Amino acid sequence: MRRGDYGFDAPYALLAFLAGGIACVTFAGVAWWRHAAGAIAPLSLYAAFFLANAGSFLYTTRRGKFEEWDRILDGLSLSGTERVLDMGCGRGAVLTAVARRLMTGRVTGIDIWNTSDQSGNARDVTLRNASLEGVGDRIAIETGDMRALPFADASFDLVVSSLAIHNIRSTADRRKAVAEAYRVLAPGGRLVIADIRATRIYESELRHRGATQVQRRRLGWRFWWGNPIAATTLLTASKP
Ligand SMILES: C[S@@+](CC[C@H](N)C(=O)[O-])C[C@H]1O[C@@H](n2cnc3c(N)ncnc32)[C@H](O)[C@@H]1O
Repeated sequence: MRRGDYGFDAPYALLAFLAGGIACVTFAGVAWWRHAAGAIAPLSLYAAFFLANAGSFLYTTRRGKFEEWDRILDGLSLSGTERVLDMGCGRGAVLTAVARRLMTGRVTGIDIWNTSDQSGNARDVTLRNASLEGVGDRIAIETGDMRALPFADASFDLVVSSLAIHNIRSTADRRKAVAEAYRVLAPGGRLVIADIRATRIYESELRHRGATQVQRRRLGWRFWWGNPIAATTLLTASKP
């Protein structure tokens, strides 16, 4: 049961799917009205495509990603004493899920609060969500860029990141963010990244830095951003 409000990821992408669906339904209606029989079937198909994508996206951002992260975090068998970093924590969906599993451990979230990446994104919103979830005493929030983390080497036992690194535009900068995640990880620590698009590049950066147990796997339909082409991939690695 979540008490916080976690907004919508990539709200403009969701709006684009919805707008595409509504436009196609409208044009199909006009085609039917004008007896343009040949246009009705293709327009209906496009409408179904856009609306199905919007439905999947909506499900993932409001529910699916929380369920998948619960599974991922349960699979880590945390002891509860870990120092954890959430890179690109946004409104705290993963941050608070981690915090719920900690006892003496603490989770730090860092973000630049971009509202086109997540609706209503703001430091105060994340703090409020943590308080609503009853984990305010187990979290810390920083404003900062994951390409230059303001933490000393080996500061964390676990680094997580959800749907955040792909928002950085260039490959070189994405590599920089992954290298930073690896730098702040303590020996014996673990890294868990869920993201779309560029996870092969993250994998190559981690291998280059000497990470072990590097594994990548596609997550299921609960973590699709519209369709299987926009599926989320999970990348896990360890620091020897
Ligand atoms: C799609 S949201 C996901 C937020 C959260 N991880 C979740 O799963 O709900 C992506 C987040 O990455 C953040 N972000 C994008 N570029 C960043 C950067 N260079 N450094 C830190 N955070 C960044 C955005 O502000 C946004 O909060």
